[in-house]
Amino acid sequence: MIILIGGEKGGPGKTTIATNIAAIRTSIVGDVLLVDTDKQPTSSYWCSLREDKGIAPRVSSIQKYDKAVRTEIVELSKKYSDIIIDAGGRDSPELRGALLVCDKAIFPLRPSQFDLWTLGRLNTLVETAKEINEKLQAYVVINQSSPNPAVKEAEEMKGFLTEFENIKALNSVICERIAFRRAALNGMAVTEYKPEDIKANEEIMGLYKEIYE
Ligand SMILES: Nc1ncnc2c1ncn2[C@@H]1O[C@H](COP(=O)(O)OP(=O)(O)OP(=O)(O)O)[C@@H](O)[C@H]1O
Ligand SMILES: [Mg+2]
Repeated sequence: MIILIGGEKGGPGKTTIATNIAAIRTSIVGDVLLVDTDKQPTSSYWCSLREDKGIAPRVSSIQKYDKAVRTEIVELSKKYSDIIIDAGGRDSPELRGALLVCDKAIFPLRPSQFDLWTLGRLNTLVETAKEINEKLQAYVVINQSSPNPAVKEAEEMKGFLTEFENIKALNSVICERIAFRRAALNGMAVTEYKPEDIKANEEIMGLYKEIYE
């Protein structure tokens, strides 16, 4: 399966989610390729750091830009059972190319008005991509939500999402948790990081299951 983790906005957690899902998927099925299409190749740095620190399993990664995203990912999907694409935070040839070849597009968004304002354009991008890529399914995952249960912004955002025909909200919500940043600094998924953050683990595993099961 080809999964795109993308969007038009900088910083909502695309690389965090792509690297976590890539490490978890690699530990379960082995045969995974993380494709970094961002010209600031953060996912690739994370993979190198992981390799330097000798963290197992090794996560295979490659960088692809421009038209190669569309053409070469189709070829690579014959060699890898799973491909995860981390596409940079803007409307780019890489994002558009990835939308034409992926099975599922996941758009991480923070529960902020500024992130919500990108949804109209994302919805149109998905609609256009679906004319060519009929299998495409697109979802939003809310990331960096407040861990305070009294704050209902994730629920409010899910309500807002019902207006968009081509994009559905995933049930999973990922909260703002320091463990995600600490794990990233060590080239790890949050599930590999010690001391264990049980809530962060549950959140990312919930997202993993929603994507793959
Ligand atoms: N759930 C989370 N909890 C805590 N920190 C997070 C979480 N998700 C992301 N971050 C932090 O937020 C920052 C931005 O995340 P990340 O780099 O994954 O976003 P991005 O969408 O890939 O950004 P860019 O558009 O620049 O590629 C990073 O410092 C990351 O560690
Ligand atoms: Mg990134």
